[in-house]
Amino acid sequence: MPQTPSKYIPALKFSLLTPVYDLVMQLTIRELTIKRRLVEQMKLEKGHRVLDLGCGTATLTILIKKACPEAEVTGLDGDPKILEIARSKIEEAKLDIVLDQGMAFELPYPDSYFDRVVASLVLHHLTHENKMRAFGEVFRVLKPGGELHIADFGKPHNILMFLISLIFRHLEETSDNIRGLLHEMLCEAGFEQVKETARFMTVFGTLSLYRARKRMRPIPCGSGIHKAGFCFFGFIIFPILFY
Ligand SMILES: C[S@@+](CC[C@H](N)C(=O)[O-])C[C@H]1O[C@@H](n2cnc3c(N)ncnc32)[C@H](O)[C@@H]1O
Repeated sequence: MPQTPSKYIPALKFSLLTPVYDLVMQLTIRELTIKRRLVEQMKLEKGHRVLDLGCGTATLTILIKKACPEAEVTGLDGDPKILEIARSKIEEAKLDIVLDQGMAFELPYPDSYFDRVVASLVLHHLTHENKMRAFGEVFRVLKPGGELHIADFGKPHNILMFLISLIFRHLEETSDNIRGLLHEMLCEAGFEQVKETARFMTVFGTLSLYRARKRMRPIPCGSGIHKAGFCFFGFIIFPILFY
């Protein structure tokens, strides 16, 4: 079921505040430290296709492209207003980045297309159902062995973060995050090697980084390996056993 327009949560909850998003981020959380750490864990390589899901004003998208200019980088966001800001920042930086408007849970890309998908501060904008749909879509568009990297609110890791979470768990759609359910939900969506890789204290509570991998494709029947196995058992082992 598509998310109703009234359920769409813009970057700072109210569209009116979108123009000051970058300023608020710079003043409230260690934005560049966290985003640089996220880019580092993505282990980008020349030729990688990378999707920044819910790219917002493209601060992270630009860091990704600068870290690996030979990667093919796409940013997707549902809000045309924030995409305008992203577009002007990308033009100013003279970078080759594709921007698409679309929903995180209905991705306009073919199966097995991206090597990396990154989702920074977007999951807490999605209802539980839409988080699961978005994970399903990310799984679909990732190549086998491709990785999803996340930065979002997580389970409080000390008493101060717990106290802050008492307020923020009621805002937007943060409850799954704060209850520490993202790990379980990623496993349920089929991801493997799901790991919380870092935690940061912020004025909004614990911010966690995660990494999850789409499993490698099972060896298809009729592949070279299957044929070789069949020949080995059929023509060598069985004759020896029954000779
Ligand atoms: C808090 S901002 C994060 C922006 C950026 N990723 C960052 O780290 O600064 C959340 C972004 O998610 C976008 N968003 C919210 N719901 C979405 C959805 N269903 N599909 C795509 N983007 C969505 C918002 O428009 C907003 O730009």
